[in-house]
Amino acid sequence: MILMKIHITRPVPQEAVDFLESRGHDVTSPQEHGLPSRSSLLSAVRDVDAILSILTERIDAEVMDCSPNLKVISNMAVGYDNIDVVEANLRGIAVCNTPGVLTETSADFAWALLMATARRLVECHKFVEQGKFEWWGPQLMLGADVHSKTLGIIGFGKIGRAMARRAQGFGMQILYSGETAPERSEMGRKVDFDYLLKRSDFVSLHVPYRESTHHLIGKREFKLMRPNSYLVNTSRGAVVNEAELVEALQAQDIAGAGLDVFEEEPRVHPALLSMPNVVLAPHAASASVETRERMAMMAAQNLLACLNGERPHSIVNPEVL
Ligand code: DGY
Repeated sequence: MILMKIHITRPVPQEAVDFLESRGHDVTSPQEHGLPSRSSLLSAVRDVDAILSILTERIDAEVMDCSPNLKVISNMAVGYDNIDVVEANLRGIAVCNTPGVLTETSADFAWALLMATARRLVECHKFVEQGKFEWWGPQLMLGADVHSKTLGIIGFGKIGRAMARRAQGFGMQILYSGETAPERSEMGRKVDFDYLLKRSDFVSLHVPYRESTHHLIGKREFKLMRPNSYLVNTSRGAVVNEAELVEALQAQDIAGAGLDVFEEEPRVHPALLSMPNVVLAPHAASASVETRERMAMMAAQNLLACLNGERPHSIVNPEVL
């Protein structure tokens, strides 16, 4: 067996490292949990055969130039917008991702954001924590009902459909849209994008980030939404024009937002930080112990399969195989 050099760009669950090392490969990974600087990333990937990447690292031509033997970039995420796939294709480098294993965990979190935003859960928590709960009142912390309302799901892939299953349990009507969404689903009705925005009480985004979804939701779309509707974004930050979201919230074009992702992570538009009707999370939708272990293992297995000349479980650019 030929032993290969593998770099993991951030610390990942140990099982994945053990798995790769147990095959005798030379595995390196930073020990610190913070972001590696660009220069330390570039020196760490020098002459490696494989990179197990995390969505925080931009894997582009400059990185690929450091490793002329690079055969595979295996991303520990379902999204892979951090990787220049066109450049990888030109060089015959396989790019893998981790769909499926995070579906339910991500939908759980999107659902939690929806509930927390509608029912003002973070505000409620702060209110009690700050000792402001001095009496019960009939007008205290009134939020919006979730059950029986209409949920609009933009992007009806695995996570979008998992969101729909949760909404069914709440007796919601489900509208969905998306370029590749099936024409029919027993869970809901496929409608056109503008209709979905006009008719939904909650709009949840589940599209991948690419050129065509950049700023998919902006001023025009917020004007179409109802003033009592909520936006939930667990997809990618730049799917929403964040500055225009702030304007829409300030103008009360929509009632609130639950956001797990931001245009320039980890930076968050400062105005969002002080809005009581906004619930924020640090890109945590797939962050459960079990799911992060599954994602790391799947990324490691994809990587190894490519190094062994086998077909990985999930490859973004099968044409290079
Ligand atoms: C992904 O997988 O793309 C998420 O954003 C992180 O789990």
